[in-house]
Amino acid sequence: MKYSFILLFALMACKSSENQLTSFAKDKHTAASRTSARIKHLDLDIQVDMDNRILFGEANYVLDENRNSDTIYFDTKELVIEDVMDPNSKEKLTYHLFNSDNILGSALEIILKEGTKAISITYKTSTNAAALQWLNPEQTAGKKHPFLYTQSQAILARSWIPCQDGPAIRFTYNAKVKVNKELMALMSGENSVMKNDSGIYTFKQTRPIPSYLMALAVGDLAFKPLSENTGVYAEPIDLDKCAAEFVDLPKMMKAAENLYGKYQWNRYDVLVLPPSFPFGGMENPELTFATPTIIAGDRSLVSLLAHELAHSWSGNLVTNATWNDFWLNEGFTVYFERRIMEAIEGKEYADMLQILGYQDLQEELKAFGKGHEDTRLYLDLDVRDPDEGLTDIAYEKGALFLIHIESIVGRKKFDSFLKNYFQSNAFKTMDTKGFLNLLSKELINGDEKLAALINAEAWIYESDLPNTIPSLNSEKLEVVNKTIVDFAAGKNAKELNTKNWSSHEYLYFIRGLPKEMDTNQLRNLRLVFDFANSGNSELEAAWFEHVIRHQYKTDYKSLENFLMKVGRRKFLMPLYTALASTVEGKKYAQDIYVKARNNYHYVSIQSLDELLK
Ligand code: BES
Ligand code: ZN
Repeated sequence: MKYSFILLFALMACKSSENQLTSFAKDKHTAASRTSARIKHLDLDIQVDMDNRILFGEANYVLDENRNSDTIYFDTKELVIEDVMDPNSKEKLTYHLFNSDNILGSALEIILKEGTKAISITYKTSTNAAALQWLNPEQTAGKKHPFLYTQSQAILARSWIPCQDGPAIRFTYNAKVKVNKELMALMSGENSVMKNDSGIYTFKQTRPIPSYLMALAVGDLAFKPLSENTGVYAEPIDLDKCAAEFVDLPKMMKAAENLYGKYQWNRYDVLVLPPSFPFGGMENPELTFATPTIIAGDRSLVSLLAHELAHSWSGNLVTNATWNDFWLNEGFTVYFERRIMEAIEGKEYADMLQILGYQDLQEELKAFGKGHEDTRLYLDLDVRDPDEGLTDIAYEKGALFLIHIESIVGRKKFDSFLKNYFQSNAFKTMDTKGFLNLLSKELINGDEKLAALINAEAWIYESDLPNTIPSLNSEKLEVVNKTIVDFAAGKNAKELNTKNWSSHEYLYFIRGLPKEMDTNQLRNLRLVFDFANSGNSELEAAWFEHVIRHQYKTDYKSLENFLMKVGRRKFLMPLYTALASTVEGKKYAQDIYVKARNNYHYVSIQSLDELLK
């Protein structure tokens, strides 16, 4: 009797720890999943050494009391760990740094004592820390001060903070950052003071966030408000231009709240970075990081802000459980972004965005080739770099799937489903199965016919696109199709009716131009439109693809300037790839790359080194 009681007890204990383990253990990209020990709060102290390009940090973690384990794991990547201790007892803790894996970095194992409630890790970053880009003054707009920014998503946070680097693990943080007096620091949280003379900045993020949303920028920065709770940070000489470009941000906020409920964070500001930033935008909470390539002068590329703002719901509030579920972050956000744009600019505008997005999807599917397993919405990355999941499948197939559901159940029903989705899962994680369950519980409700129409399993677990997809129309782009036909048939570009075209129509026009054009046609286009020097990065990049294909040397200087300056991977990859398709072109690409590489972030360099080796 006594023994069976003990046995039962042991079994129960074992079972509960196992349950916890299985629910955490799914994420193969973080060492934290090895045990159930979790962090819940971070006090971060960082000193920024701009001259030597090092962050000196002390990460003080408060642990979650519910743990079934006497070891805890953190992710690190090329960090130098100097000390690990219990900040309460001041006792050193035993730790072990595992061998480094190229993608995952080194797991840091710490042995916890009976009463360990907090851990303090003293560390410094390495000069090639993957998340960090250190810029010389010449690489900034002002040319006077150095600049630093981070990019943590997907698993690069571990290269500047030892952390439990999985999207399912949330924590709040306070931070203190010390920088040179003439610089200003910003983080993804509430900022206590504007620029000050001490060089010390403090931040707090009172809502629990995953590590991939940790962000820091340091530079000569200034702020301009756009409304009571929105604003823009940029280098002083760019500030007015950026603020003028983003005037519609408060409208976007209203539209977003009308759609899917109140904004759950404190402020929403945008930081415009130097052009080396490898992405269009990054949804760091309360402080979106953005590329300056969206500053076109005519507000034509601001849907990117709608996208990053939308992440304040899809992604930051309801977060993908693992990087296999990435489509839940990005597919929802693209859908949401276009709904915001529809609300503020009208349906015709949103339809154009949707069709341009569908073109991207077609290109991506073609690049993968039929039946490729990475064209499924739910990915099986295993231990591959999550960066491999960063394709238009998650974005555009994901958004198309939601449009498909909307078209079947109707907008009203779908909107209330989404509103409820964000509300009831706020500050939680969601995986693909969980989404499927909600779909079936709240929208399908046992209606087999409806389930068959939605066909969710096929969208999510099968390659390519299902047979039935929503039909997309845009009258405006139909008109553009006609002008393309006219031009291809020999009409002079000057005679084409492009009156009142937006940059979306121009982009569609450039993409639709014949693959084969003669020099007269290229010259004609150049004289009439001069896309290479239009100041609109989307049009420039799309045009350069024709320039490269035809080896149209007249625009090579502009192409070179573009590649020297812009670090946004979405533009760089197609251009360098096109160049590298001929022997001579590859040589030329390599020559440019040698000079430009220093202007790119690790994320872009990783992809380009591989392409141009
Ligand atoms: N969160 C992404 C950027 C990202 C994803 C970085 C995965 C690293 C890993 C961001 O919201 C994004 O989607 N940016 C796009 C914007 C576009 C779709 C409007 C970009 O950078 O091009
Ligand atoms: Zn996004």
